[in-house]
Amino acid sequence: MQEKRRDVADFLAERVKSASPSPTVAVSNKARELKAQGIDVIDLGGGDPDFITPENIRLAATEAMNAGDTHYVASNGTPALKKALAKKLLDDNQLEYDPAEILVTPGGKQALFASMLATVEEGVDVLLLEPAWVSYVSMVEIAGGRAVPVSLDPDDNFRVTPELLEAAVTPATRGMVVNSPSNPTGRVLTLDEINTICEFAIEHDIIIYTDEMYEKIIYDGRKHYSIATFPGMWDRTLTFNGLSKAYAMTGWRLGYVAGPKPFIDEIAKVQSHSVTHATSFVQAAAVQALAGSQDFIAEMVTAWDRRRHMVTNGLNRVKGIRCPLPEGAFYAFPDARETGLSSVDLGAKLLQDARVAVTPGIAFGQSGEGHFRISFATADDLLEESIQRIGDALGWR
Ligand SMILES: Cc1ncc(COP(=O)(O)O)c(C=O)c1O
Repeated sequence: MQEKRRDVADFLAERVKSASPSPTVAVSNKARELKAQGIDVIDLGGGDPDFITPENIRLAATEAMNAGDTHYVASNGTPALKKALAKKLLDDNQLEYDPAEILVTPGGKQALFASMLATVEEGVDVLLLEPAWVSYVSMVEIAGGRAVPVSLDPDDNFRVTPELLEAAVTPATRGMVVNSPSNPTGRVLTLDEINTICEFAIEHDIIIYTDEMYEKIIYDGRKHYSIATFPGMWDRTLTFNGLSKAYAMTGWRLGYVAGPKPFIDEIAKVQSHSVTHATSFVQAAAVQALAGSQDFIAEMVTAWDRRRHMVTNGLNRVKGIRCPLPEGAFYAFPDARETGLSSVDLGAKLLQDARVAVTPGIAFGQSGEGHFRISFATADDLLEESIQRIGDALGWR
């Protein structure tokens, strides 16, 4: 028999080997592991609404399942759901998309991933406004491209400026990812910042991947702008969204991308050769989510609005921490630079001493260093207890 000569690592693809596992998933796994050992850890690392999916949506799924909607469906999405999404995009976002310009995917993450595979390759740069959601870098890299950070300045409220964009752009830049409301910073881009982004995209002839996952979770009467509605942008924008956050449907996996048909057709090829389509009866439930009462969203947002004040007020009493009030989404991104600890060391200290799991800011890029992210999509009493523990671990002002 031939002697074994190659190591496992020799069989693995470099572009995947060099990608790191999702740090937010790693934090939640660690918290789960400690909980399983009987250690009382509060997990503020995840991004999952603490509400169960509304009943009308759950019923629609079981009804569809019981009626036999258990087979393969059209790869791009069911006609009923694509029609409902086209209506949603028009009504909510003033975006005109034909159903043929919409691809339904198992989760918004898959929509982004398939889009990166369809548009990014070796030699292509994609700009990321950092701090940025953890998966963008890996998606770009797995697609063979290079993720180039636009390092936003925490001392300028992570504002997007023409100077920062111009400093980051390269001749190989093909696109930029924009995410407002932002995970992790909770920032909502202003009209000025959106205009800056649009002018920059047109000037450098690049596409925008706009991740609008948190559009409905927005506070103080701020306004969400969909980039594709701005002059000259529709042709160069891919709009991403999903039902995970707005309808508390994270486990169902339902997202979508809308854009010009030549893009959607290519992205659809990736889908048809991989996951095939989003789950049939989940698509039926999604039609109900969009058609039914939307009151549930306002109820969740009211709870998160209350908690964002609770968290911000509480953390601002902790020594070494300054916590800006989140403008959208359900994350706070406190600045802990005054503690002098790296974000990884701080995360470890909070897990060890406070038994609270948070995500270190560095997970979101270099400009997130010295910060940490907590999710306040968590019950009030757990949040109160977490703040008490964090304060006890780091000291009070
Ligand atoms: C900014 C952002 N985009 C996309 C997603 C993906 O959401 P899903 O795949 O559940 O639709 C998330 C989930 O946490 C997110 O925070």
